[in-house]
Amino acid sequence: MFNIAVFASGSGSNAENLVSHFKDSTVGRISLILSNKKEACVLKRAERLGVPYDTFTYKEFQDSDHIISLLDKYRIDFIILAGFLLKVPDYLLAKYPGKILNIHPALLPKYGGKGMYGRYVHEAVIAAKEKKSGITIHTIDSQYDCGKTIYQSICTITEDDTPESLEAKIHELEKAYPQVAEDYIESEFTDL
Ligand code: GAR
Repeated sequence: MFNIAVFASGSGSNAENLVSHFKDSTVGRISLILSNKKEACVLKRAERLGVPYDTFTYKEFQDSDHIISLLDKYRIDFIILAGFLLKVPDYLLAKYPGKILNIHPALLPKYGGKGMYGRYVHEAVIAAKEKKSGITIHTIDSQYDCGKTIYQSICTITEDDTPESLEAKIHELEKAYPQVAEDYIESEFTDL
């Protein structure tokens, strides 16, 4: 059974979906939720769901000893980013090769990169009059929103869609994240 840490900076709807899904999993469980924002709603969700949680500052995130001792305390094998806005430092990529997943609320490689997160992505997609958007689930490497794509799904955009209505469609698609993550972990790592 893998111990999974979720890193999140915001509301935490994906984090909550992950916790609920992995409660019944034979592959892993969400053992820790970490955030770089002390006021993030995801921490209230963690409290309500009974999942251990902690926070770190930007400076602490750059300090490998600080973060790795926290992850080791919970014997974390795998990291799932769920609306996490900081770039993952090299020491984490080295410790968790192929074992850090991210979800992006657009069809990468379009609408990715620094500053492209959450509502900003949907505003850019609507402003460009795209006819479709979607989600991308991918492994993490040292660039923003790069790495190997393991899953994409698509929604259509109508003329009356707004960034808010597109965001709601994307959140529906994001409900697939826990199953995709579980399948990935099981297929790639269960014989370790
Ligand atoms: C999600 O839509 C996620 O795809 C996006 O932030 C939102 C977080 O929502 N992630 C990014 O934009 C990463 N570049 P949540 O806090 O309710 O899970």
